Amino acid sequence: MWGTTLLLTLHAISSLAQLTLPTPPFLPPNISSGAQSSTGGYPNPKWSSLLGTLLYFYDEQRSGTLPSTNRVPWRNDSLILEGRDVGIDLTGGYYDAGDFSKDTFPLSFVLMSLCWGATDYGKGYDLANQTTYLDDTLRWGLDWLIKAHPNETTLVVMVASSDEENTYWGGDRSIPSPRPVYTITNNLPGTDAAAGASAAFAACSGLYAGKGFNNNSYTPPAQLRNDSYAATLLTHAEQLYSFAVNSTNGRKTYQTSVPQVAAAYSSSGYGDELTMAALLLAWTTGSSTLYKDAEDFYTKYELAKSNRVFNWDSKTPGIAVLFAQVNQASSSLGGNFTVWRDRAENYFDDIINKKGPGYLTEDGLLFFDGDSDDASLNPALNTAMLLERFVPMASNAEKKVAYQDFAKQQVDYILGKNSMSVPYIVGVNPNSPKNPHSAMASGGDDVGTIDTDPAVEAYILYGAVVGGPDKRGRYFDIRSDWPQTEVALDYNAPMLTLAAMRVIGDTKDPYFTSLQAGAYDKVKPKGKPCDSVFKEGCEGPHLGKKATIALAIVITIVGLVIVGLSIWYILLLVRSRSGKVG
Ligand SMILES: *[C@@H]1O[C@H](CO)[C@@H](O)[C@H](O)[C@H]1NC(C)=O
Ligand SMILES: *[C@@H]1O[C@H](CO)[C@@H](O)[C@H](O)[C@H]1NC(C)=O
Ligand SMILES: *[C@@H]1O[C@H](CO)[C@@H](O)[C@H](O)[C@H]1NC(C)=O
Ligand SMILES: *[C@@H]1O[C@H](CO)[C@@H](O)[C@H](O)[C@H]1NC(C)=O
Ligand SMILES: *[C@@H]1O[C@H](CO)[C@@H](O)[C@H](O)[C@H]1NC(C)=O
Ligand SMILES: *[C@@H]1O[C@H](CO)[C@@H](O)[C@H](O)[C@H]1NC(C)=O
Ligand SMILES: *[C@@H]1O[C@H](CO)[C@@H](O)[C@H](O)[C@H]1NC(C)=O
Ligand SMILES: *[C@@H]1O[C@H](CO)[C@@H](O)[C@H](O)[C@H]1NC(C)=O
Repeated sequence: MWGTTLLLTLHAISSLAQLTLPTPPFLPPNISSGAQSSTGGYPNPKWSSLLGTLLYFYDEQRSGTLPSTNRVPWRNDSLILEGRDVGIDLTGGYYDAGDFSKDTFPLSFVLMSLCWGATDYGKGYDLANQTTYLDDTLRWGLDWLIKAHPNETTLVVMVASSDEENTYWGGDRSIPSPRPVYTITNNLPGTDAAAGASAAFAACSGLYAGKGFNNNSYTPPAQLRNDSYAATLLTHAEQLYSFAVNSTNGRKTYQTSVPQVAAAYSSSGYGDELTMAALLLAWTTGSSTLYKDAEDFYTKYELAKSNRVFNWDSKTPGIAVLFAQVNQASSSLGGNFTVWRDRAENYFDDIINKKGPGYLTEDGLLFFDGDSDDASLNPALNTAMLLERFVPMASNAEKKVAYQDFAKQQVDYILGKNSMSVPYIVGVNPNSPKNPHSAMASGGDDVGTIDTDPAVEAYILYGAVVGGPDKRGRYFDIRSDWPQTEVALDYNAPMLTLAAMRVIGDTKDPYFTSLQAGAYDKVKPKGKPCDSVFKEGCEGPHLGKKATIALAIVITIVGLVIVGLSIWYILLLVRSRSGKVG
């Protein structure tokens, strides 16, 4: 009785700390409604509910004691004593992907990306009535990241799924615990992880402070403003920045200090995180000293040379866009908008004009060899997100059109305009993936029979963006095939910002409403994939459809020529013989 009262009081206190969620709650619409077009109106109701469904995915990934407002009926409290054995309260936060690890480095990128997106497209969240859920989602991540940073020079970088040899596959009620907790400290620094977390805190502090990029079209949601929370976040951002820059044991990638993180999220360098943290802090605090730090890091670590994809590890393409935005908004920091606009355009123009680093597959997906081999959609989505965001800053009308069209084509691809007719988001259309690689959603508890037990995935993981098809456009929808079917916090991040943009600016339905049930079943590839999990599908020619047709034509022509020549030769022989005989 007393316990219940205390619990209720605690709930009441925690719900005061953030915006009040609506009753009844927003829930993802049913799957069949995703094959029906809307009746129109502004904002477009299909884009609005897609934004809500994409956010709902983060509710599904929650760890810890779920609040009374939990919307996911099949989720339970889990790991409610996490960290107690090492004296740090690490309950809460998010499970990173299809299993149960908590990974600070990609989480920081996700929070930074969501806060940056909401800073520009807050109006989209407002129009869709999703701002309270945005707040709820961000705080569930940020409040955990605060706990993972118990003092100035300590940051938890990973709570592992379970011990390394023995990855747990099963529901959320029997996750083995306690679990290994890995931290970086002054003695064992991780410049990238500390700077990445600093960037997340800085971006989100700016968002909660209501700081937009001084453009009435681009504003954070007004409702979100909370100066005391913004100040708390800023303190963590500043401390982590100092820790990253000035660690007594030098600057190092975090896997140098904590090798256990390498298998999942090894970092390729820390120059980009240092730049991003300095730049976001400069913008949030208006400091020209920090701004100069950001430019100096960009030069010192030769980031211009590492301009490939934008993702949890590699931030350079986004950094140029952010520099341009910061300089367009403020001339007092000492930068030059034109310089950064041109850097961003050089990168985008290379992609659009097929000069690398990515290229369009025959199926129409922007593909970066290496980076797109697993989870092919993520690099394409992040590029589309950066392109659309950059459009208003582009130097001329032709570029604006070209960038917008290219981005739209990628978004349409992800929403089902592809040779599989699959919208690569779970639960939004009858053709959506049905077997996302997610231990929680699968309902199985034996990784050895992951594909067959149970036959049908137990729970629909609404709103999860999956890894994506292979280079040939083929999508197999096999649960164990994590390169194609896994879900992750960072796969959803760019799609959220893109959806918020579309809520503001697109009155047409998302592409998938035109896809009717059964479309995927007609074209579903036979056999097995060819990727890091399956090798079976690697035999045979690896040609796209057009190349196969072209090859068939060439073979036919060559064959006809050989047959023709042979007949001619035989006739010739016959004639010459008959001539001799005759
Ligand atoms: C602002 O956020 C803080 C920290 O979460 C919370 O305690 C406070 O109640 C919030 N203020 C308002 C007005 O929502
Ligand atoms: C799904 O939603 C559509 C449109 O909102 C509605 O017509 C239909 O009855 C719903 N189906 C189910 C099974 O709830
Ligand atoms: C948002 O809420 C308002 C007020 O309740 C309502 O009129 C409007 O239709 C809602 N919009 C969406 C997209 O749900
Ligand atoms: C920081 O926190 C860690 C983990 O709780 C602890 O081991 C360490 O002693 C703390 N350091 C300081 C300076 O408080
Ligand atoms: C949550 O608990 C219920 C009831 O015990 C169970 O049926 C369900 O599978 C659990 N959910 C997960 C994700 O394990
Ligand atoms: C790093 O240390 C130097 C020397 O003590 C100091 O001047 C500088 O402000 C520190 N930088 C940060 C970001 O804390
Ligand atoms: C900014 O850089 C451009 C070159 O991209 C240069 O032409 C211009 O003079 C610079 N502006 C300032 C104020 O330095
Ligand atoms: C503000 O945004 C609008 C709409 O995207 C754009 O046309 C305009 O150029 C922007 N203005 C500034 C100063 O960035």
